[in-house]
Amino acid sequence: MCWRKYLMWFANEHVQFRLPEIESLLSVFNIQYNWIHQEISHPFWVIELPSEHAATQIASRSVSLHCCVELWAQAKTEEELHRKLRVLPAEQFQLHFSAEKSFRIKVDTFCNKLSQADKISKIENFSYLPIEGHVNLKDPDVCLNIIEFYGLDSNNIPKKPLDLYFGRWVANGQRDLLAKLSLKTRKFIGNTSMDPQLSILMANQAKIVDGDLVLDPFVGSGSLLVAAAHFGGYVLGTDIDYLMLHGRTRPSRIQSKKQREKDESVWANMEQYGMSGKYLDVVIADSSLPIWHDSLTLDAIITDPPYGIREATERIGSTKSYTISEEHLETHIPSKIEYGLQHMYMDLLQFAVYHLRVGGRLVCWVPIIRENYCEEKLPSHPCLKLVYNCEQVLSSYTSRRLITLEKTYEPDELQQGTASETSAREFRAKFFKYGEEKQSRATSVPNQIFRENGLFVMLGSRAMSHLCKQQDSDRPYSSTNSVKCLGLLATSYPPSHLLESGD
Ligand SMILES: C[S@@+](CC[C@H](N)C(=O)[O-])C[C@H]1O[C@@H](n2cnc3c(N)ncnc32)[C@H](O)[C@@H]1O
Repeated sequence: MCWRKYLMWFANEHVQFRLPEIESLLSVFNIQYNWIHQEISHPFWVIELPSEHAATQIASRSVSLHCCVELWAQAKTEEELHRKLRVLPAEQFQLHFSAEKSFRIKVDTFCNKLSQADKISKIENFSYLPIEGHVNLKDPDVCLNIIEFYGLDSNNIPKKPLDLYFGRWVANGQRDLLAKLSLKTRKFIGNTSMDPQLSILMANQAKIVDGDLVLDPFVGSGSLLVAAAHFGGYVLGTDIDYLMLHGRTRPSRIQSKKQREKDESVWANMEQYGMSGKYLDVVIADSSLPIWHDSLTLDAIITDPPYGIREATERIGSTKSYTISEEHLETHIPSKIEYGLQHMYMDLLQFAVYHLRVGGRLVCWVPIIRENYCEEKLPSHPCLKLVYNCEQVLSSYTSRRLITLEKTYEPDELQQGTASETSAREFRAKFFKYGEEKQSRATSVPNQIFRENGLFVMLGSRAMSHLCKQQDSDRPYSSTNSVKCLGLLATSYPPSHLLESGD
């Protein structure tokens, strides 16, 4: 192993989410590491890794990372930086510099702007480096970075940088994904579609890897499924809202036509991004009435339950008791009642405890009234360990916290979770206080899924029915496009697999 120091340069956004994302990725790739410098609000962290491959693995998934640089020297002044570089052993350079290898030196600054002339004069100060190759500004073999950090306060920029770094660029993070998966160009979005950055952070914190089975029980427009499928997860979702899953809610784009296009759906998004092979189905179902077969085992649950702001917190139920006659069962639309946040989170955690594999993660948002917050009030369960808890502030009074819970052991029957009593009404009232906020039914589908080498293989047309319980009373769920889904799944697996079922 060749341990080296790497500089991680983070995008200046979602600061609290950096460590959970990077630590989750270190765990996904089973990478050993030592933190040399890791300070939450500082955009530059230094980590010691056993190989360059480890650095590229982290960068291949991280959306917090701007880029990763092999760190050759770090200093508080220019003089100190040059002094350190001059005494570096020759092997440091021999690996990367030769007459055949082109190079480029780039000056980057944080919280300051330098003129082109200033940058060039800084680059010239490094002329003592034993670089032999020719300059190639567009596509060099080796890219060297001079990085200057001028602090975090753009109203008070110091004359000289506070920290200087010099190193060799290794890999960019996944910031390009933000444009690729942007909601602006996504086929189907809703009022509460999660932005790609937070969706990817959630998928990374859930440690989703190729072949995982992932569920979003409050799926909405399926943004979280996009992120999960991007990392190879096979995705499933449920939502109580028929109109949402059929792409028939009011259009969410202000400038758009009055009607949605006919083919807007979670499925259409998957197709748009070339992820249709990872799509299992989305199902109209009430998460308070679990539809899943007892044997369903999930690798991850990522979800954003409703907080009662833009989406009502509701479940199927009635204050009256009534029986539906046989003839009306087929077309009956059940009434809904309020689903208290406390009960919603207790149900969600209970569901996670029963259906996650040990080691699997539940990553979900929890609305918070900031003045009442303490960690003990977060939803919890004895079988779920709170791994991370990051705040995204929504207003002076409210925020939401992304909690990452990992299942540590199988439950025994008596173990119950807890959740605090914050009602959706109270959260809503605080959210809108003083108007200052700026917020940021499965008809059984025949098929069979089994796991082979970490991949799900569809055997003929018997999957959702094996994952869902048979329901014979008042139906809390119905299928949206599972038949279509199976048809498309057929395209991503060899036809022989599909023929085996004998359907
Ligand atoms: C905050 S939105 C989720 C948005 C989603 N992450 C997206 O990117 O579009 C919450 C969703 O939960 C759904 N929902 C509300 N109550 C539900 C329930 N009892 N069971 C299942 N879904 C429910 C709503 O219809 C809504 O689509």
